[in-house]
Amino acid sequence: MTTASDSPFDLGWRLNRTPAPTAVVVFGASGDLSHRKLMPALYNLALQQLLPPEMVIVGVALTPWSDDEFRTEMKAAISEHSRNGEVDDEVWHGFAQRLRYVSGSFDDLDLYQRLDALLKEADADLGTRGNRLFYLATAPTFFPVIAMNLGKVGLADESDGVYRRLVVEKPFGEDLATAQALNQELSQVFAEAQVYRIDHYLGKETVQNLMVLRFGNLIFEPLWNRRYVDHVQITAAEDLGVEGRGGYYDGAGALRDILQNHLFQVLSLVAMEPPARFDSRDVHDEKVKVLRAIPPVRVEEVAEVAARGQYGPGYIAGVPVPGYREEEKVDPNSNTETFVALKVRVENWRWAGTPFYLRAAKRLPKRATEIAVQFRSPPHLPFLETPVETVTPNLLTLRIQPDEGASLKFVAKVPGPSVDLRTVSMDFSYGSSFLKGSPEAYERLLLDALVGDSTLFARWDEVETAWEIVDQVLTAWAGSAADFPNYDAGSWGPESSDDLMARDGRRWRRL
Ligand code: BG6
Repeated sequence: MTTASDSPFDLGWRLNRTPAPTAVVVFGASGDLSHRKLMPALYNLALQQLLPPEMVIVGVALTPWSDDEFRTEMKAAISEHSRNGEVDDEVWHGFAQRLRYVSGSFDDLDLYQRLDALLKEADADLGTRGNRLFYLATAPTFFPVIAMNLGKVGLADESDGVYRRLVVEKPFGEDLATAQALNQELSQVFAEAQVYRIDHYLGKETVQNLMVLRFGNLIFEPLWNRRYVDHVQITAAEDLGVEGRGGYYDGAGALRDILQNHLFQVLSLVAMEPPARFDSRDVHDEKVKVLRAIPPVRVEEVAEVAARGQYGPGYIAGVPVPGYREEEKVDPNSNTETFVALKVRVENWRWAGTPFYLRAAKRLPKRATEIAVQFRSPPHLPFLETPVETVTPNLLTLRIQPDEGASLKFVAKVPGPSVDLRTVSMDFSYGSSFLKGSPEAYERLLLDALVGDSTLFARWDEVETAWEIVDQVLTAWAGSAADFPNYDAGSWGPESSDDLMARDGRRWRRL
C-alpha cells in the first residue's frame, strides 16, 4: 500500500494541513453525491493520512440504516467510485470505525437532539473536541431547514473555542432573489466565516493552477489584458446526458447548473487582478471586483448575447442516444436548456473591449473543459517578398479536463529555403510532468474546509453578483417559447450559438 510518495502533489498537501480533531456530519448521506464523491474523498484523505485520528464521520438521512448497514453501503460506494480503486483493508478498518449513522427527517427537531447527543459521545470517546463540520448534500429546500435546526440545538455555536462550519452544496438559489433569501436565512444562524459554499470547479488542479500560472510567472501577466488578448473562450462540454438526474436538471438547465456557478468562478480567476496575498479575503475581494465589472445582461440584449439549446436524439461515439425530452423524469414538453452560450463584457481598464464567451452543454461530441486565451495578431509582419501574408495568432489553452494541462500555440518556420510558417504547440501535461493524476476536487475542498481555509469556496457576494448578471436571461427565456430540440445529441450545439460568435466575426474552437 502506498500512502505517500515523492510527488510534489503529496508534499504540497502535507505542508501545514493536518486538521484538528473533529466530527464531519453529512446530511443526505444516502444520496448520490455522498456515494460518488464525499465518502470516496474522505476515504482517500484517510488513505493519505490527512485526517486526524480523533475523528468521527456521521451520516444523516431518512433511510433507516444501522451503523453497520451504513458502513457496508459506503464501502461499496468507495470501491466503485474511489480514484484509488480497490479499498485497502487496513485503511478501511480504521475508517469504518469512525463511521456512524443517524436516521430521521430533516425537519424534525428530535433528529438534531439525537445527533447532538451522539456528537457529545464522540467528543468523550473519540476525542473530537467539540469541533463540527456539517455538510449539506441534500435537496436545496432543506438547506435553511437544517441550518435553522442546528442553530436551535446549539450546534452552530462557536463560543467555547470550538468550530462549527457549514458546507453548502449547489445549487445556491435558483435566481438572484432565492440566492439572496438563502444567504439571509443562513446568516441568521451561521456567520459568513462559518459558511463554505462549495463549487467543485475551484478544487480542480488546473483551476487552481490558473493563479500560479498567472501570478507565479513573469511572462503571461504583461500580456494578460485588452491590448494583447483578442477574446477568451471558456467551455464546459460534456458528452453525457442528464444521467438519471432529470428530476433536478429539468428544473435547473445548463445556465443554472454550470454557467452561473462553475464558469463564472473560472472567469473571475482568469480576469481578476493579482491579489496582494493568496488568502481567502484578498482572493475573494479580487474575484468580486471582476464580477461587479460585468454589466448584468438586460432583457432586450438577451437574443444578441445569449444562445440556448436542447438536444434531440443523436449519436455519441456512434451509439444512438435519446433526446432530452425522452430522458427519465424529464417533462416530454420541457423547455429546459441543455446548452447555453453567453457573451460577457468585463468593463474595467484591463478588459474593456475584450469579450469573454462562455458555453456549457450536455451531449456534445466529447467531454472537454478548457479556457482558451486567444491573443491578437502581431501589428506588423516583416516577411516581405514571401508568401506569408497572415499568421495564426497565438493561443493559450488551459485544459481543465480531461488530460489536464496547458498548451501554447505559436508560429514557426518550416525548415527549408523558403519562408513557410506553420503553427506549432508547446505542451505541458500534469500526467507527464508530475507522474500522477490529480486528486479529486472534493478531497482538496473537504480538506480545506477541515483546516478552515475558505479561499477556494464562494463568498456570498460572488454568488449573488453572478446571479445578478444572468437574472434577466432567465426572465427572458422563461417568458418566450424555445424552438426545442434544436441540436442533435453528438453535435456542437445549436446554430444560434455559432451565430452569436459570427456576429463578432469569431468562431467557437473545435475541441
Ligand atoms: C455539476 C453539475 O455541478 O457538474 C453536473 O450539476 C455536471 O450536471 C458536473 O455534470 C460536471 O462536473 P465535472 O467535474 O464532471 O466537470
